[in-house]
Amino acid sequence: MNMIAPSLLAADFGNLEREMQWFNASEADWLHLDVMDGVFVPNISFGFPVMERVAKLCNKPLDVHLMTVQPEKFIGRVRDLGATVMNIHQEACIHLHRVVQQIHEAGMKAAVSLCPSTPISTLEDILEDVDVIMLMTVNPGFGGQKFINHSLDKVCRLKAMLQTVGSKALIEVDGGVNRQTAPLLADAGVDIYVAGSAVFGKDDPAAEVLELKRLTQRIL
Ligand code: DX5
Ligand code: ZN
Repeated sequence: MNMIAPSLLAADFGNLEREMQWFNASEADWLHLDVMDGVFVPNISFGFPVMERVAKLCNKPLDVHLMTVQPEKFIGRVRDLGATVMNIHQEACIHLHRVVQQIHEAGMKAAVSLCPSTPISTLEDILEDVDVIMLMTVNPGFGGQKFINHSLDKVCRLKAMLQTVGSKALIEVDGGVNRQTAPLLADAGVDIYVAGSAVFGKDDPAAEVLELKRLTQRIL
C-alpha cells in the first residue's frame, strides 16, 4: 500500500481554506494533523479550535498525531472531530494497551508512534492490537528536518517483526519524507507516508502528492 498523508504543519495557516481546496481535489489519502504541547516535544503547534475548523473543510480521513503527554485525555475530543486515526506515542503512555483499547472503543483506528531512539521491541506485546505503527524518521517537534538514515533499517526490522507474528498493522513514517527518501522507504516496506515540507508550500502541492505516490509504488 502507498498512502500519502500531507502534514498540515507545513501549510499556510493564513489561508487554510485555500490549502484545503487543493488538498481535497488531490490524490492525498489522509490529512495528518500534528498536535504539540510544548511538554512532550519542545514546540507548540495548534489545538482543537483550529482542527475543528479544518475538519469541516477537509473531505478526507484525518490522522491526528498527538505529540502530547497523556494523550488519553483527548480521545473523546479527537473522536468528536470525526478523526479516522488517533495517533499516539508509546513514550507518552504508561498503559498503552488500555489507551489503544479506548481508541478502538471510541470507533477510531489506533496508531502508535515511536521516536527515533525507541526500539521497535517495545511494541512486541501489542502488535496484534494496533492498526498502524508509525516510526518517527526525525525527532518529533518540528517540520523540515533531515531524515534519519537509520530509520530505513528500523522499517525493515519492523516489517519482518510484523510478518513473523502475522500482524496486519500498517507501517507509517513521519519526518523528512521527500522525493529522495520516499522510494527508499517504499523498498523497506512502508505503507503510509507523512510529508509536510515536501508537499505544502510547494508551487503545485497536488503534483508533489502525485509524484510521491508514483515514487512509492511497489510491485509486490
Ligand atoms: C514532526 C511532525 C511531522 C512534520 C513532518 O514532529 O510529526 O508530521 O510535519 O514534517 P516534514 O515532512 O517537513 O519533515
Ligand atoms: Zn506528525
